[in-house]
Amino acid sequence: MKIVKEFSRFAHEYHRHNIIQSEVAKKLVSMLEKKSYLKVLDLGCGSGAVYQNMLKQHIVVDEFIAFDFSEEMLSLHPIDKTVKTVCSDFNDRSSFEKYRDNEFSILISASALQWSTNLTSVLDSISRLAPEHYFAFFTAKTFATLHKVAGISSPIYSKKSIINSLSSYTIDTMEELEYRLDFDSVLEMFRYIKRSGVSGGVGVLNYKKMKNIMKKYPLNYLEFEVLFIKARGK
Ligand SMILES: C[S@@+](CC[C@H](N)C(=O)[O-])C[C@H]1O[C@@H](n2cnc3c(N)ncnc32)[C@H](O)[C@@H]1O
Repeated sequence: MKIVKEFSRFAHEYHRHNIIQSEVAKKLVSMLEKKSYLKVLDLGCGSGAVYQNMLKQHIVVDEFIAFDFSEEMLSLHPIDKTVKTVCSDFNDRSSFEKYRDNEFSILISASALQWSTNLTSVLDSISRLAPEHYFAFFTAKTFATLHKVAGISSPIYSKKSIINSLSSYTIDTMEELEYRLDFDSVLEMFRYIKRSGVSGGVGVLNYKKMKNIMKKYPLNYLEFEVLFIKARGK
């Protein structure tokens, strides 16, 4: 069964542009079973939502590898004696060559791997790196109504294709959550989409098309669907 979590339009503006991602990181970290890990790899770490949630949830880590291909994002990541930033592309298999099998206690990735150019290949290349993997993927149902109105198909992987891409894993747990974010106007919604980085294919539409969609969009909220998975490499 799906749980719908709604976010009020009154949430503070600063926090709003990444409110869903922060909730996703919080939920993913809450799935961790231990309170202490030797070495953690966070793929697509961004500005450190996973790390911050681990601190908040009193999870202790000896070594935290914050991996992202954006120097700009890495510069926002919290610095600590346990944190090491790695600027690398997860689409490139050679990014992982330097790591031994099970080099990490866990591999975690929140709201990042849905942007893989080839999800099966990325998941395959990282499966040997840790005995336990925790993933949160946005799915194709994100912005479902918007895509329908715009007549475009989602560029994000469907739940089915994500599961198929996990062929080199044994899935231990899987949960889908639907989130809703309320807006006062459709214009505000489009501004959010532009700023949040979760463009979901809407970024390709020109102004005229956008205006037309804004007239037809029937909801006062945006839909997001996230798949949370705990898995082990086979
Ligand atoms: C939506 S953000 C999520 C950030 C963070 N994990 C969180 O939960 O808030 C996605 C992150 O993935 C990174 N990313 C996207 N594609 C990547 C790639 N091919 N290699 C490494 N990082 C990538 C982006 O730079 C961005 O920081």
